[in-house]
Amino acid sequence: MNPSDDALLKFELPEIIYGWGSLSQIGQCAKRLGGERVFLVTDPGIIAAGWVDESLKYLEKEDLKYVIYDNVVTNPRCYQVDQGVRFYYQKECDVIVAVGGGSPMDTAKGIAILVSNHGKIHDYAGCNLITQPIPPLICVPTTAGTGADVSQFAIISDPRKKIKMTILSRAIMADISLIDPRLLQTKSQELMAATGIDALTHAIEAYVSSLAWPLTNPHAIHAIELVFQHLRNAVRTGNIEALEGMSVASLEAGIAFSNAILGAVHALAHPLGAIYDMHHGLANAILLPVVVRKNLEHATKKFAEIAKAMGLDTRGKSDEESAKLVPEMIQKLIKDLEIPTTLSQVGVKADDIPTLARDAQQDLCMGTNPYQYDAEEIESIYYEAL
Ligand SMILES: [Fe+2]
Repeated sequence: MNPSDDALLKFELPEIIYGWGSLSQIGQCAKRLGGERVFLVTDPGIIAAGWVDESLKYLEKEDLKYVIYDNVVTNPRCYQVDQGVRFYYQKECDVIVAVGGGSPMDTAKGIAILVSNHGKIHDYAGCNLITQPIPPLICVPTTAGTGADVSQFAIISDPRKKIKMTILSRAIMADISLIDPRLLQTKSQELMAATGIDALTHAIEAYVSSLAWPLTNPHAIHAIELVFQHLRNAVRTGNIEALEGMSVASLEAGIAFSNAILGAVHALAHPLGAIYDMHHGLANAILLPVVVRKNLEHATKKFAEIAKAMGLDTRGKSDEESAKLVPEMIQKLIKDLEIPTTLSQVGVKADDIPTLARDAQQDLCMGTNPYQYDAEEIESIYYEAL
């Protein structure tokens, strides 16, 4: 973003409470926002891990009533949002608390939108289409990567139409993001790796975004540093330092992308989630090195800075030479994390590529990529990743 550009820039954040053991604040937070009856959105895995039982203890301590809504799956569906809205009305709730990864948090946002704005979730797909304020919302992330706890985004799938809808609005930012890195202890290694790469993708896309600016850049670049310092250890050993490092990486990457938006990796990843129900982090991991290689010439200086943040010694190298090392560093990280590296490995068919490319070109995230790819170029990226 150059000072001469006309675009207006904003920087939005929820209140952030961070710290080992901070889940204990959940009841006080709900009460402080005026809640008496909590609508707690989560998923069965989080309940099995024990985090919901612990949360309920803190809600009870503040004399709060609650109901639990856990009909949430990866790539949350529009009908699950509708069901949640009916349940919210039925139980006369007045505050929403999401405890979980991106799927429970996005479902909670979807429910919050319809509770106060009515209609169908499809009506709000796009930019700034929400007119009424949502109920108070607290997000407690249990994964390090999605950034949904600090972002103005929600992604909801319509499986019948095979689309993923991107909702972008200041109105769906949580009031409070309550981040307790302790909650990462029950994540599987596979999920830690995939969500960690999602965080890296957020940071890289925000840093090279056409809407990046001095308030988003330091968070994006620091998140990249943290991912390269801590993700391998977070996956392999799960030690406290690594979990805290990844929590902050996810937070800072979330702050950056919520305000600078994303790019072609996310635009191409969303249709893979919609058509193949592919995990979002996995789709990003496969696409990231391919898209970065294509984007290099359109943001060379920025990619040279990213190389440095990844821990490379770039002294004596030109920006072009440094930037070229970025895709290699990403590929090495993904290989070390044992994540699949091609779309064909995870069942993507060449026949679907024209449909995937058409949907990707229309995705909201494509607008802030440093270069606007046409449908043919997007198809070639998918083929390269195949
Ligand atoms: Fe993402």
